[in-house]
Amino acid sequence: MRAFNFFRVLLSLPFVLRGAQAQFDTPPTNLTTGFVRLPHGTRQVSWIYSPNGIVIYDGDIVFGTIAEFNDALVNITHSPDDSTLSRRHDIPSQGLATRAYSEPPGGRLWPGGIIYYRYSDTNVESAASTEVNFAISTWTAAVPCIRFVRLPNDNKPTNGIVTIVAHSTNFGYCAAALGYTPTPMWLEVDPSGCGDSTMLHEFGHLLGLYHEHTRPDRNNFVKFNCNNVLSPKCCGSSCCGLACAFSIDPGHYPSPEYDINSIMHYPSWAFNNGMGSTLTDLSNNVLHNPYISLSPLDISRVRQLYFCPVVSPPKCNKACSTTPGKCHPTAQTCVPPAPGIPNPRLACSCRAGFKATNPGIADGDVTKQWRLPAPEGNFRVWVAEGVECNTPCTVSTGAFSCQEVTELAAECLHT
Ligand SMILES: *[C@@H]1O[C@H](CO)[C@@H](O)[C@H](O)[C@H]1NC(C)=O
Ligand SMILES: *[C@@H]1O[C@H](CO)[C@@H](O)[C@H](O)[C@H]1NC(C)=O
Repeated sequence: MRAFNFFRVLLSLPFVLRGAQAQFDTPPTNLTTGFVRLPHGTRQVSWIYSPNGIVIYDGDIVFGTIAEFNDALVNITHSPDDSTLSRRHDIPSQGLATRAYSEPPGGRLWPGGIIYYRYSDTNVESAASTEVNFAISTWTAAVPCIRFVRLPNDNKPTNGIVTIVAHSTNFGYCAAALGYTPTPMWLEVDPSGCGDSTMLHEFGHLLGLYHEHTRPDRNNFVKFNCNNVLSPKCCGSSCCGLACAFSIDPGHYPSPEYDINSIMHYPSWAFNNGMGSTLTDLSNNVLHNPYISLSPLDISRVRQLYFCPVVSPPKCNKACSTTPGKCHPTAQTCVPPAPGIPNPRLACSCRAGFKATNPGIADGDVTKQWRLPAPEGNFRVWVAEGVECNTPCTVSTGAFSCQEVTELAAECLHT
């Protein structure tokens, strides 16, 4: 809690990102840094050996087994938890990196869009299944041509199958394999849970998404403030420790647009040491990336990867008709986005703290429900005509409620 709470006080932000927070509260310890051959090039990363014998790098990406990792390791530049040491261990490297970056061209996607998974045992199942089911239903609602197939619980590493395992003790964060490989894959969860938003993020990795903030073009959109990263770290041309989780990855990206709202983009406060944001916009402002829901671009990207028809969401939703009875009785009829907005676009509106009720309506389905970048619109949910809204939002009071519902562009404030 410490670093994040301190930062929260500094900024007087009245919200608590339950779950999302845990991922960045307890930083990985015993981080080793070195150069590793990844499919698209050699990169300096930091990693941990998890108690399950699995190597996790870039904060939450499962590389594979220690043996697979050692095959790809070029050298070690920094020993665990030591930001100043640069003891050199040259490790003869053989073989090729075997892990996939599931991204065309040459990426390894889940064949046929079918993801096979299972829990290692019933303890892990009871600890993780609510969040896992949430992530699966959210992703499949958004990308209907992928399918998750659950297999009976088993802990034996099996080729082509993701086994959901838990750390034996509270490790503070969760991690997932990056895309499909024909080898065993893992999703490591925390015994106390990952939080819904982090689970969506981990499933983004499983489907093949990288970290958005490590894109080669990220310096055009966000600023990385290395001095605000929790120790151990080193800042400069060579990274070590947690700073490596923010270093640029030379991979290729299917989407031409940089997406601050991606569930794969770290929030401003990720791994901060209490001295300020680790990621800001170019004018040093905190990013408004809630790290709660899938963004429209996340959805269209994964649809592209799995050859689902890409439906471009309407830029702005249809204004509501003032004819009585068009809005569902649980919604208010035709409310303007905020006082004083010129030519306001009226829409049916849920009462504060509520969103669409039907479980088939995803938080990111902007044809059914959305938020707006207005002082009030930011925490209120607007719905299409006829959509019922009796479901409390994840956070249901205060200026940061309902952040899991996608926010439309500012042009949608007006007709
Ligand atoms: C970190 O390494 C030390 C020394 O090897 C070990 O005693 C400790 O358990 C490790 N901590 C974690 C969280 O793995
Ligand atoms: C480690 O390997 C990288 C990539 O080949 C190289 O650039 C770097 O100089 C090496 N560092 C050390 C300390 O050997």
